[in-house]
Amino acid sequence: MNNQKPIYVTQPYLPPLEELMPYLEKIWERKILTNGGPFHQEFEQALCDYLGVEYISLFSNGTLALVTALQALRITGEVITTPYSFVATAHSLLWNGIKPVFVDVDPVTLNIDPQKIESAITPQTTAIMPVHVYGHPCDVEDIQRIADNYNLRVIYDAAHAFGVKDQQGSILRYGDLSVLSFHATKVFNTFEGGAIISPDAKTKRHIDHLKNFGFVDETTVVAAGINSKMSELNAAVGLLQLKYIDYAINRRRKIDAVYHEALSKIKGIRCIGLSNETVSNYSYFPILIDKDYPLSRDELFNQLREKNIYARRYFYPLISDFPMYRGLRSASIGNLPVARMAAEQVLCLPIYPDLSFKEQQIIIENILK
Ligand SMILES: Cc1ncc(COP(=O)(O)O)c(C=O)c1O
Repeated sequence: MNNQKPIYVTQPYLPPLEELMPYLEKIWERKILTNGGPFHQEFEQALCDYLGVEYISLFSNGTLALVTALQALRITGEVITTPYSFVATAHSLLWNGIKPVFVDVDPVTLNIDPQKIESAITPQTTAIMPVHVYGHPCDVEDIQRIADNYNLRVIYDAAHAFGVKDQQGSILRYGDLSVLSFHATKVFNTFEGGAIISPDAKTKRHIDHLKNFGFVDETTVVAAGINSKMSELNAAVGLLQLKYIDYAINRRRKIDAVYHEALSKIKGIRCIGLSNETVSNYSYFPILIDKDYPLSRDELFNQLREKNIYARRYFYPLISDFPMYRGLRSASIGNLPVARMAAEQVLCLPIYPDLSFKEQQIIIENILK
């Protein structure tokens, strides 16, 4: 038995409630609730400024943004992707009638391994959908080189990568499109929400049509678009959250540093390090538990649960092990050894702005003992 209150892997950051009130009053006054209203427009611009990108389309969630990104580029046939991600990555392909082809991940970053992409390309391959897992950038240069050689498009699932930068700027500018999620569990949340980052105004315009049933104007429909618009309420929350995002990421940075200091030299524990980012968002704190640690990953996971500490096994099971994917040839056991090993060893520790130093010490003590 213990009386400690539960500590979850994450807890959404929420700005002071009274600061939301003026936004709500404005919505009630204007009676514009959705369809690209004033808060929606303001939030798009504010996000472009914060992230350092030029064209953003807001969505009701990241999954519909992924589905729409694939439609915007008319992707068909087969798409090369990673099994080491949240299911929505591959689900967005199935929703478009596309066959996912899983490629193994790099043992250091756990992002898709560019060296294994080429041998998975077939005449049906039209695109690559990599994921910047835990917000650590993929090997964007190598992926682009392969895409250029084989005339493939690249859509990044950047759901974890809000605000992440490399030496040249935002990592969201790589590939043909990048997709963000603003889900409650993410570094930056609008309760539910998402976005597509486009390279030019024409692509953004097309995406904006697709998320609004394909409407171009009152009487013109150019595609079988869907309804995946962000509402004024979510956009208002986003505008308010932006005021606190630097604080939230800074808190995460401090928690990340304490974990690193305490855990990185422990036998049998490997902290997943940075990739080539110069600005990080500290979205997750994954550790890999190997045989040199006294407990197996699942034993540690369960031991922490008994203490009311709810770490999560992101990403276990692999996407390729779910019933709708496991029959694919690329899902076979021998094809994905690194991803499989990571899925067996990984544990994501609690990290969020309101996690106290005392709570973090309890978590660490329970790992060290
Ligand atoms: C890698 C990844 N892709 C896609 C999504 C889907 O985003 P959403 O929940 O906003 O639909 C998530 C998270 O939920 C995710 O972690």
